[in-house]
Amino acid sequence: MRRAWSCPHLRPRRNPSALTPLAKQDHSLRGRLSALDGALPRKTWPSLIRLLRARKKRTGEAPQFVTGHGELQRALDFESRREAKLVWPDIERLHSLLKGMHVAKADDPQAQDRAAQVDQLLQKLTPRIREEPLEVVITGWHPSIPQAVRDAVLGRSEASLGEMSPVDAAVLHHELAGLNLGGSRLRVRPVLFKQEVLPAAPRNRRAGPQRRDREGSWLPHTDDVGQWSATPWAIAQKHAAILAEAGSTEVIDLFCGCGADAIGFAERGLDVWACEVDAGRAALAFRNVAMFEVKGRVDVTRGDGLALLEDLQATHPGAALYVDPPWGSAEAQKVVAREALTWTALLGSIGGQTDVLLDHEGPLLLKLPRDFDLETLPEPTRWTLQWNMGTSEQNAERIVKTISAFRG
Ligand SMILES: C[S@@+](CC[C@H](N)C(=O)[O-])C[C@H]1O[C@@H](n2cnc3c(N)ncnc32)[C@H](O)[C@@H]1O
Repeated sequence: MRRAWSCPHLRPRRNPSALTPLAKQDHSLRGRLSALDGALPRKTWPSLIRLLRARKKRTGEAPQFVTGHGELQRALDFESRREAKLVWPDIERLHSLLKGMHVAKADDPQAQDRAAQVDQLLQKLTPRIREEPLEVVITGWHPSIPQAVRDAVLGRSEASLGEMSPVDAAVLHHELAGLNLGGSRLRVRPVLFKQEVLPAAPRNRRAGPQRRDREGSWLPHTDDVGQWSATPWAIAQKHAAILAEAGSTEVIDLFCGCGADAIGFAERGLDVWACEVDAGRAALAFRNVAMFEVKGRVDVTRGDGLALLEDLQATHPGAALYVDPPWGSAEAQKVVAREALTWTALLGSIGGQTDVLLDHEGPLLLKLPRDFDLETLPEPTRWTLQWNMGTSEQNAERIVKTISAFRG
């Protein structure tokens, strides 16, 4: 029986092999000109410049826009996001003016006047590079980020964004647009007139502040995971201060790694019960603890912290619980989806047993990655958040390293 297809889009194609993938559209002026009637001969452009120079000699009128190859390149490479119907009439006119220009004689006054019209059209179609100071508006800050941290991330006071040099604005855009802090991405909007763009961020400033931990661990004994995941010393001290100031004298460090936080707690005078599931890393933690001469305060057990927790809670009632699950190492990054670093995804890498942590009766301190989605913290209003920055010795004073979440 013949099948009746009511909708043309559902009709089977007669020859599927004849389908070709859609070519990626080129929105640059060069691409749009080529789309009209094939690429213009290469000699068109040097000829345009020659004609404009000859016209200047003849009439004394300098070109308004094409003063050299650089401007011309910029015009041809510019990718317009404007609606096609707004630019096509100008592009068609440009195309007809450029046709045959590659063979025009430099001393032909008519060809020179056509070149001047091309010059005007190129100016109209190409945005101006902003030269005057401008305002930059940054939105998307997570509401828990204090002003001092915002200013540190910006590398300037937020108030100074009202008047920035265009180059600084371009650098800031390059560094910060899309940066995920606490599950919220920064948006960087330079306030420009229509048909204006920022200059390119200079290459030597594109590296920006160091965004990743490259300094490695301060611990004498580490393995590859410990190297990435050990808490920086300054932040380990902050963790210890949070617990000490809350009155804790004992802490269970459930995932101690090579022992950076455990040493920080012990140095502050807390007694630490540390667990590490990986035998090699537990041994490294033991050696580090000995090196820092806090052996008397830190008890390292090789084993699954989650399985040991109940016993530890029973023998040390009131002890604080410190949780730094794996997330910083290359190994953990395979497990955890960095795009959506939620509570479930983070704790998923240790079996997702979040209730045993949340049911802890004493103080609870979590170390979270800076891109952790804070909205997914259970009972969000119960946590005090602290944003921990890198240090200037590591050239990382503009980098948010971690977020501490404390529930007293
Ligand atoms: C982010 S690291 C901890 C780093 C540590 N806070 C420091 O500053 O050195 C997490 C560690 O948890 C360990 N781990 C993962 N699951 C565990 C579990 N169920 N019990 C104990 N340790 C575990 C991993 O082997 C890893 O060494």
